[in-house]
Amino acid sequence: MQKLINWVDERLPIVDAWNKHLGKYYAPKNFNVWYFFGSLAMLVLVNQLVTGIWLTMSYNPSGEGAFASVEYIMRDVEWGWLLRYLHSTGASAFFVVVYLHMFRGLMYGSYQKPRELIWIFGMLIYLILMAEAFMGYLLPWGQMSYWGAQVIVNLFGAIPVIGEDLSLWIRGDYLISGITLNRFFALHVVALPIVLLGLVVLHILALHEVGSNNPDGIDIKKNKDENGIPKDGIPFHPYYTVHDLLGVGVFFFIFFIVVFFFPEGGGLFIEKPNFEPANPLKTPDHIAPVWYFTPFYAMLRAVTIDLFGLDAKFWGVVVMGAAIAILFVLPWLDKSPVRSMRYKGWLSRIALAIFAVSFVVLGYLGLVPATEGRTMVAQILTVLYFLYFILMPFYTRMEKTKPVPERVTG
Ligand code: HEM
Repeated sequence: MQKLINWVDERLPIVDAWNKHLGKYYAPKNFNVWYFFGSLAMLVLVNQLVTGIWLTMSYNPSGEGAFASVEYIMRDVEWGWLLRYLHSTGASAFFVVVYLHMFRGLMYGSYQKPRELIWIFGMLIYLILMAEAFMGYLLPWGQMSYWGAQVIVNLFGAIPVIGEDLSLWIRGDYLISGITLNRFFALHVVALPIVLLGLVVLHILALHEVGSNNPDGIDIKKNKDENGIPKDGIPFHPYYTVHDLLGVGVFFFIFFIVVFFFPEGGGLFIEKPNFEPANPLKTPDHIAPVWYFTPFYAMLRAVTIDLFGLDAKFWGVVVMGAAIAILFVLPWLDKSPVRSMRYKGWLSRIALAIFAVSFVVLGYLGLVPATEGRTMVAQILTVLYFLYFILMPFYTRMEKTKPVPERVTG
């Protein structure tokens, strides 16, 4: 075995790579539960890739055959129902894990210098993930697949001058059709997964270049022993590889309960109208995107005024785009001298709490039909969402922070 390793290593530095990223990658010893979600995101990614490949073997990407082929997978393909539920539940699990992973970043200031690039790559991953989920949702060719795509692609039509042509170009037809399904299939199974994988590699490379942050937000590289090893660091392998297995166990426990007993997630993971084949002549009573998009959908609907000769729909799209774009510049908005929420002041804590609550409630509002009262709440919460970012340079500078200890506190 050693001979084989040596033979390969002389031609490809696998030992170096192993040491750099696992065996001698010193991670802070005070990681807590919030640090499980990065490895869990990788696990879900692998699940999506593997189950996706097998689904593709029996799926028929055409307007005529798509819905029936999914039914065929569910009823006739051996273990097909499991493959499909692993994939559909996996999509929701991906967003649960990624939202918690991002929230950890907000809590511990993981986006702050020198980790800006890790954050930017993360945000690009998030964008691609949303595109991937959106296109995947069209593939079963159910009523919600069809009308959800119709609504979202029509949003591009709200852009002045080029809007109409742009949505036509995306659809490849005057309405969502088999042609749209074909191109979404190509993007969903080939193009976007490649980009996603590339971005994840860059995300991890950027992380391993500067090293992981931790719940104290302390730079462990500042405190090294005589061998140049961070005093508060432990080798990723075996300590965190084994530690992460605990996270995997707990995750699987919850994940499989959903897969086996509640695969539709009460209409949240697979919406009820999606059990009916797509019908361009029949609009469902209530069109709502899948839960992970609903905070942004609520923001879109919260904009109700026409401005500067452009209609509310256009401004809604702008607000929705801005809500995601502003996350990209987060590293430059936070002016705090400390990273972690543990040492930031009350203003930052209250701001983060209001932001998180706003996001979750907006998510709920995006799921239910709009009423006048709900729209007003959504408008207030949209403003609060943006204030978290816009006021950040001020409250992070104004507030009194606590002294950060020399060494991690556990
Ligand atoms: C496919 C999706 C993703 C995968 C597989 C992934 C993977 C990982 C892994 C394995 C880590 C190291 C372990 C950990 O700190 O938990 C990490 C760290 C990190 N990720 Fe992600 N990630 C993903 C998406 C995102 C997104 C969407 C963001 C934010 C926009 C993000 C921001 C970060 C940050 C800031 C760190 C450093 C955290 C720290 O050191 O405290 N990631 N990621």
